[in-house]
This record gives sequence, C-alpha cells and structure tokens, in this order.
Amino acid sequence: MRKEWSTLALLFALMLVLTACSQSSAISEPSDPKQANQLEIFSWWTGAGEEAGLQALLKVFTEKHPDIAVVNAAAAGGAGTNFKTVLATRIQKNKPPDTFQVHGGAELNEQWVAAGKMEPLNDLFTQQGWMDKFPASLVQMVSKDGKIYSIPVNVHRSNVLWYNKKVFDQYGLKPPATFDDFFKAADTLKAKGITPLALGDKEPWAATHLFESVLAGTLGPIDYNKLWSGHVHFDDPRIKLAFDTYKKMLTYVNQDHANHNWQDSVQMVGKGEAAMTVMGDWAKGYLSNDLELKLNQDFGFAPAPNTKGIFIAVTDTFGLPKGAKHPLATKKFLEVIGSAEAQDAFNPIKGSIPARLDADVNKYDEYGKTTIEDFKKDFITPSLAHGSAAPQGFVAQCNQLIHTFVAQGDVPSALTALKQAATANHIGSKK
Ligand code: GAL
Repeated sequence: MRKEWSTLALLFALMLVLTACSQSSAISEPSDPKQANQLEIFSWWTGAGEEAGLQALLKVFTEKHPDIAVVNAAAAGGAGTNFKTVLATRIQKNKPPDTFQVHGGAELNEQWVAAGKMEPLNDLFTQQGWMDKFPASLVQMVSKDGKIYSIPVNVHRSNVLWYNKKVFDQYGLKPPATFDDFFKAADTLKAKGITPLALGDKEPWAATHLFESVLAGTLGPIDYNKLWSGHVHFDDPRIKLAFDTYKKMLTYVNQDHANHNWQDSVQMVGKGEAAMTVMGDWAKGYLSNDLELKLNQDFGFAPAPNTKGIFIAVTDTFGLPKGAKHPLATKKFLEVIGSAEAQDAFNPIKGSIPARLDADVNKYDEYGKTTIEDFKKDFITPSLAHGSAAPQGFVAQCNQLIHTFVAQGDVPSALTALKQAATANHIGSKK
C-alpha cells in the first residue's frame, strides 16, 4: 500500500505544482484600515475537551502576529452539530467567516469546493515548501481537481476504545480485540453491575460514530473504503451483520445515553461508572486536561473491537472561503497552522497527531507516539460520522436513521433507509 501511495503522491505533486503555476491570485485586503487587521476564526472548539487546543494554537498565532485581532467565533456542539447550520447560512448569505473548521474529504470537497465557495491555496503550499511535509493521503483529502483548498492541522483517530484501567485490572480483563472478546468482557462487567459501554448520543453523531467502527469491523478496511466508491453494494450481507452486531452492543450501554453528550460518556469511563467507550481521540484531550486523569494508570486505549490495523481518520482543516473579509490575515493564519511549531503546540493538547510528517514526536505522550506510528502503518479509511467519507446530505440522513435504529432496533428498516439515503445522495454511483 505504501508503494502505491508514493507513485500516486509523485503524480499528484506534479499536478499540484502545475496548477499552482497557472493560478492567479486576485485577493486583496479591505480598503477600510479599521477592518484590515482582524481575523474571524469559526470552529466548534469551545468548552470542555475542545477549547484548550485552540487556545494553544491561537497563542502561537498572536505571538507571531500581535497586530491582528482574532475574533474567536466558536459555536458549541460536538462534531459541529450547531456550527454546520450557522456556517451554511452565513455562506449562503455571502457573509463567510475569514476561515472555518472543515473536515478534509467530502465535507470540504463535495460541499464547499464543488459549490465554488473556496479559494485554492496551492500558492501557499508551494511558497511554504509544504508539498513533502504533509502525507500525500492527507493532501488528497483537501484537494479537488489538482487544487488544494485547505490546510490540515491534525489527524484524529475515530476508532478508539477507551477503557477504565482500574476496572479492567480489578476484573482481570484485557481490551477486547474482536467483537467476541468485546461481548465476553461485557458479560463479565454486566454480571458485576458495571455498565460495560458508555454512550452519549444526545447529539446523534455520537451513535453514528460508534456505528462506523462496527461497520469498518465487519467489512474490513478495503471493503469499507469500497462502499464509499461504489464497489461494494449497500445490500452486502456484512452491512446487515454490522447492524446486528451494533444492536447487540447497544444492549450493554447506559440506559440514559440519549440524555448525554460525548464528554459525559467519556467521563463515565474516567470515573469508573462505565468500563469502555468508543470515541475519537479528542477524548484523550478531555480525559487528560479536563478530568486530569492519567494515561495507562486511570485509563487505557486500544483499537475499537475488530479494527486493529484500521485507522479511521478525521482531519480538521482550515481554508479561505471566497468573499472572506480579511484574506491576507487568513493566509497568515493558515501559514501558522501549517507550521510544525503550531501543530506541536496544538495536537498534544487536542489528543490528535500532527498532520505534518516532521513534527517533534517527543512532544507527544505514549498515546500520541503510538498513534503517529499507527498512522504510518495502518490502513487509512475516512470517517463517515465526521464527513470525510460521504457528503453532508448522506451523513445527516445516516445520523437520522441510526438515531431511529438506536431507539427501535429494527434492522430491515435501517437497511432500507440506508440504501435509500445512498441512492438519494449518489453514493458510489458517480465514481
Ligand atoms: C470532530 C472534530 C474534532 C472534535 C470532535 C468533537 O468532528 O474533528 O476535532 O472537535 O468533532 O467535537
């Protein structure tokens, strides 16, 4: 797989250089000097587990550009729950923020780039000498038709099982590698009166998040990827198996899951009220910084059941929307977030790994170091719940149908709804 990537990467780099040469830059600052030195950054990184990393990033930026006043315009809600609606309205009204958080993959390319809402950034990439500083797989996720549209600041891993170390040690349990192991451990825990699996799906994406790990676990990484490219069909029996497995898993979750958000479910594990949860590694930022718990003493990590060797990637990126009021300040911000210095200030706190290949591994704890290595050797697949695998319309319909499934457990209805959503959103058929 690495070989295929390197040939692809060469071709891709050539395309991007050619595109950069032919690109004209018609960007200018507002003539009103009061407006010039501002920068509105729009994200959903606010509150527990989200904000600390952003503050570290902004600190690096303001140290370098003290003359630019940052407007931190965050909209609360995990995975952009509320942010996405606000952003869509602003872009529709031609009032975009100067830059906004966006996942690489379909969310960037099929929603904003395809609608002609983003400026290409190839010139920034070449000026900064970034072409060989980011993995080709990531550059591809932020590119369309040879043009680069955003700068990745990190890579989060979606398919992580977090477990309470003391509870596991007390009952002589090991992190479950397979679905069978998971159900055995869950039975042991249930018999002891401990909630085996914490879920907090008040925001429905969290249920989709758990489902995508199960789906990757039944399909395997190659066919999980082929599902999004149309080479595996939605009536594949392993998709039914994913729903059956998911349904069984749901019999081990906390009954009040619909009243809680992702931080609550992670906190349950941190406090030992539940033994395990499947959550992206922003959970580590929350466990370490907010709950002040210790990695490998209080909590441990492992790939979600049946996903060893699979890395479901979520990359947070920032770009330059067309019509942004402060494009030059935005480019300065993008220049900073693409630097190793800023990535190494942000990611150890956020729980993610740097997008850059030359970051300083010594700044990362054992989780970060392991994840940096896994990203190099594992099979990389895009996240469905976080908008990289498929367009937003499909993700929204999946959130809806999985939310209904969690409440009703009706496998045939879920399968029908999933196939309908895929057809309605042309998943697979256009590739
Ligand atoms: C993801 C995002 C992460 C984290 C998480 C929880 O979509 O990529 O950075 O913020 O949502 O809100």
